[in-house]
Amino acid sequence: MVTRAKRNNATSLRPVDELETARRILAEADSIVSFSGAGLSAESGIPTFREAQHGYWAKHDPYRLASPDGFAADPKLVVDWYNHRRNILSAAVPNPAHRALGGRSDLIHITQNVDNLLERARASAVLHLHGRIWIDRCNRSCGYEEAVDLAAPPDRRDCPRCGSPMRPAVVWFGESLPDAVWRESTVAAANADVLLVVGTSAVVYPAAGLIDVARQGGAVIVEVNLEAASPGAHISLTGPAGELVPRLLNP
Ligand code: OAD
Ligand code: ZN
Repeated sequence: MVTRAKRNNATSLRPVDELETARRILAEADSIVSFSGAGLSAESGIPTFREAQHGYWAKHDPYRLASPDGFAADPKLVVDWYNHRRNILSAAVPNPAHRALGGRSDLIHITQNVDNLLERARASAVLHLHGRIWIDRCNRSCGYEEAVDLAAPPDRRDCPRCGSPMRPAVVWFGESLPDAVWRESTVAAANADVLLVVGTSAVVYPAAGLIDVARQGGAVIVEVNLEAASPGAHISLTGPAGELVPRLLNP
């Protein structure tokens, strides 16, 4: 059981083997929260945002594809782009990092990712800060929403309940995060013994602010990334999530 004193000791840790130290801290922790970004799904073939600056993001103006204005201006372009991403997701499978996280029913999972790979790896109660790409919802928020077939998603269409356009249930530039998800995520981060930060550049707020919330709550921040990205991390493990996360979490 990681006590507050031990947790604080972690801040002065100069571990010989950081992975072993992180493993031990995680094994002793009562409350572990995972906080993930696109790097968690990269090994499943889902392009990350920063990579994709040279990929499909570069082909299109991100603002035109992921904003209410862009959707109002050309709903078909936006729906076609999300359906392209849905097709990529339909062919993807959870990688060993998703499976290691999903196999731990004692963890709370907060993710910036809109994919359902954690759910498909049996994670329960995933908090999606930026929405869920496998769901369509009414743009006028009449409350109508429905899951789509990722392999054959519907073209642009109108809400069957109120006639407004239907759109992917994701958070766009300029939109706020879902209230209840944000509230639940900040409470979980503030009370965590360990925040396991996996595959995020930690540059998009308010989501990235959860790292500070957890640190101020006394959590040990363990980061897994190809490069050190979270300045607030106590332990920063460099390597692919698919290799490191199972080694951290599996007995
Ligand atoms: P980014 O593309 O900004 O960052 C991906 C991070 O994952 C980088 O730090 C990479 O080094 C790391 N990474 C890549 N492959 C990895 C691997 N195999 N194992 C471990 N780490 C790996 O994606 P996010 O941080 O998720 O917002 O971006 C945050 C938000 O920016 C997204 O949610 C999206 C975007 O604007 C919205 O859609 C609202
Ligand atoms: Zn509607």
